[in-house]
Amino acid sequence: VEIIVAPSYDAMSRVAADIMTTFINEKPHAVIGLATGTTPLGMYQQLISDYTNKLVTFKDVRSYNLDEYCGLAPDHKQSYRYFMQDKLFNHIDINPHNTFVPDGKNTDVDAVCDAYEQDIIDAGGIDLQLLGLGHNGHIGFNEPDDVFSPYTHVVTLSDSTIDANSRLFSSRDEVPKCAYTMGIGTIMRAREILVIASGKGKASIVRDAFFGPITPRVPASVLQLHQNVTVVLDEEAASLCE
Ligand code: F6R
Repeated sequence: VEIIVAPSYDAMSRVAADIMTTFINEKPHAVIGLATGTTPLGMYQQLISDYTNKLVTFKDVRSYNLDEYCGLAPDHKQSYRYFMQDKLFNHIDINPHNTFVPDGKNTDVDAVCDAYEQDIIDAGGIDLQLLGLGHNGHIGFNEPDDVFSPYTHVVTLSDSTIDANSRLFSSRDEVPKCAYTMGIGTIMRAREILVIASGKGKASIVRDAFFGPITPRVPASVLQLHQNVTVVLDEEAASLCE
């Protein structure tokens, strides 16, 4: 695992965007895995500005997102599809047909999960996977568990996650009860992985994930077994690394 420490959130975003644009410039047909959440927002803004400044084109890139809530339509403001359109896709030249997010509206769990795995295989596998890091070490929606999940699957959201998310919905009943997510295996099969984390709140999980024991209780710790992982941190997130 290679760790890069940048002086600020903006600098972290710049470094991560540079890694992605360099990758895409070298491999214009790259298959990229993407994440939602707060951490990548700065990086996505950098990618948009790089595209606007003609430093990169996404016209032949294919993207696969890590996860999506069950039951939310693409135009639902809390869906991850909506997030990706709003924060990145609508502002760059990626072909909409080449962007993939698990189909939250499809309740046929096996069909959604099998198709997502097969699509990734048919695309030749993920070349570069972007990851954020949950406070408990989750990656995608893979929460601490007894085992590492091999494939795309459905997860039941914990009551605490539903409580936390309910602020974004008009009632608790509207909060999705489950989500589709790539498995740990799906993530580990990517040829290269880029992890970003920022802020004091991530410092202890950064230490545990990259310097602690490898255990499904800290899902991100499995990344220590991957051959090609780059972790880009700001100074606060790096503050507990030796
Ligand atoms: C998002 C995802 C999550 C986030 C993680 C960190 O698609 O899969 O695992 O990466 O929850 O979220 P933020 O960046 O909001 O701290």
